[in-house]
Amino acid sequence: MKLSPRLKTVSDAVGKCNILADVGTDHGYIPVYMLEEGLCNKAYASDINEGPLSRAEEFIKEKGLSHKCETILCNGLENVPRDYDALVIAGMGGETIASIIDANSPPENAKLVLQPMTEEQTLRKYLYTHGYKITDETGISEPGHVYVVITAQKGITESFSLKDLIASPAFCSKKSEDGRAYIMKNIKKVTKVLDGLKRSTTPKTEEITSAENELDLLKIIYEEIN
Ligand SMILES: C[S@@+](CC[C@H](N)C(=O)[O-])C[C@H]1O[C@@H](n2cnc3c(N)ncnc32)[C@H](O)[C@@H]1O
Repeated sequence: MKLSPRLKTVSDAVGKCNILADVGTDHGYIPVYMLEEGLCNKAYASDINEGPLSRAEEFIKEKGLSHKCETILCNGLENVPRDYDALVIAGMGGETIASIIDANSPPENAKLVLQPMTEEQTLRKYLYTHGYKITDETGISEPGHVYVVITAQKGITESFSLKDLIASPAFCSKKSEDGRAYIMKNIKKVTKVLDGLKRSTTPKTEEITSAENELDLLKIIYEEIN
């Protein structure tokens, strides 16, 4: 099977593992692809909703992989056995992803591959402040969309700056066209916010300073990865 560029980037970030847990699996594309390609030996495919989980169940059955892939109906990692060594949580908001990890801390050795659709800064901050290191971060664009895929593992992050919240040091260390597209998307977003703040009839001095700082840092990052 062929994955979308976003999900292929997620699978590439996992690489090879023994047991994969895919939380919020929906169709089950990631576990099926990784099992078919021999990138994992076993998988847990979980979802909070019955509709998506039965879609995944059917797809896994159709591919003859039911003996290698357990489907689990639960919230986050609640009922997912703790013997996985790679965890994927993709296609949800950054805050939801952080709350799933927070509610059931993954095993110490697990590699986390996280693909937030929104609130990326919230997720990076959660990781920095809860004993994780962002070991890799990659921009990936699809027609009309641009995302980041964040890889994290247990490890101490001594300190972090506003720039590290906007994009991790791992992201900034790589020159990438899709990475630039991600930063450009945020430059446009913050510029729009700033314009609105400047047009406001009530004074918004603090918010303006904060948006200006963010915009400056985004421009610095854009140059760094150019
Ligand atoms: C937009 S889909 C993403 C599917 C797939 N992971 C991807 O990236 O293409 C989000 C999926 O996450 C599930 N989901 C949302 N919140 C969840 C939670 N707390 N625990 C487990 N699954 C959740 C939804 O039911 C839905 O199937």
